[in-house]
Amino acid sequence: MQIFPAIFRITTLFLLLQKNDFVSSFAPHSSNRQSNINISTTDNRLAKVNDFHAEITNIRSASATHVGVDPDSAGKVNQDASFYFELDDGSNNPRYLCGAVLDGHGKKGHVLNEFLQWKLPSLLKSNLISETMDDDIENVLVRSFEDAHYEARMNETVPAARSGTTCACTVVDIKSGIIHAANVGDSRAIMVIETLDSLKKKVFALTTETTTKLDEERDRIENADGRIDGSGNVWYGPVGIAMTRALGDSVMMRAGVLATPVVTEFHLQKECAKFLEESANENFRIRIIIASDGIFDVMKNEEVNDFLGACIQRGCTLEEGCELLVEEARTRWQAGLSLEVRIDDATVVAFEFEYLHR
Ligand SMILES: *[C@@H]1O[C@H](CO)[C@@H](O)[C@H](O)[C@H]1NC(C)=O
Ligand SMILES: *[C@@H]1O[C@H](CO)[C@@H](O)[C@H](O)[C@H]1NC(C)=O
Repeated sequence: MQIFPAIFRITTLFLLLQKNDFVSSFAPHSSNRQSNINISTTDNRLAKVNDFHAEITNIRSASATHVGVDPDSAGKVNQDASFYFELDDGSNNPRYLCGAVLDGHGKKGHVLNEFLQWKLPSLLKSNLISETMDDDIENVLVRSFEDAHYEARMNETVPAARSGTTCACTVVDIKSGIIHAANVGDSRAIMVIETLDSLKKKVFALTTETTTKLDEERDRIENADGRIDGSGNVWYGPVGIAMTRALGDSVMMRAGVLATPVVTEFHLQKECAKFLEESANENFRIRIIIASDGIFDVMKNEEVNDFLGACIQRGCTLEEGCELLVEEARTRWQAGLSLEVRIDDATVVAFEFEYLHR
């Protein structure tokens, strides 16, 4: 019985090594094998992970928005905006799935967003189409954000100087199963991977909020002419915003505020393969939820997903689930407080699809 813990530890270590090797490379490492350990089970699992191929099918998309309440301004307008679209590869095969949520601020944030809600998807579409050969989606996202910001500044009818917006945007490359997320400001995209039997689930953020909470963002603002106040807001002269990157807000550029998004990348194949070591199920349901802080300020990532998942479980469509979600967020802003409470605009774009073994 004494020898068991030792073997157990070696086996665990070996499993860890194999896991790490899988993440970084597929290089063989048979020279490390120790003859006194039966590792054939591990070999089988690894073979299963390496051979795992799945494809995206049955895509559903929906969005919903709800105007907030500002006790200081009667008839408040909704400054949030959103869009989503699917793009085919030119021969009727779905190729890209794209969506975004924008949360405007400043006196004319809603006017800026009327423009961006049309301009940004149109730039994304043309850049995605011309990029199909190179598949450099990070570049497409950066270029589209920067060009949309530039076009807003150059357009005399668009108030892009003292009004601005967040933008959280995701692009799913349907063919490769790679998901790209771009973000300026404090809206957020999350992804949920769930086995079809719902026994295993993982919820995580696709985007990083660009605020002064991040050291590198803070450093850039401080090295430019920006000031950071005690609440973490960024100021240039009399103008202040709650984020370090934004579309619009061009007076804030001298304070180090950027329109360039932070772009992240996730491989569905790799993310799902992690489940295969623990689960027999090789089919997954994926949900991507993009929302403004009108939702994420009052609900955690898991809560947002659980709420939407429960609606769908009860037989709602994704669209109905999104409507109920923005209403739920509104109820939570009000929770137990007087009617005079401030309620933020709440907006969501959601995608759902299956990722099936083939
Ligand atoms: C290793 O494990 C496999 C599967 O459990 C078994 O079939 C095989 O006989 C074992 N080999 C040794 C050397 O114990
Ligand atoms: C400028 O903005 C207005 C209002 O959104 C729009 O109708 C017009 O097409 C824009 N012009 C350009 C060159 O984008």
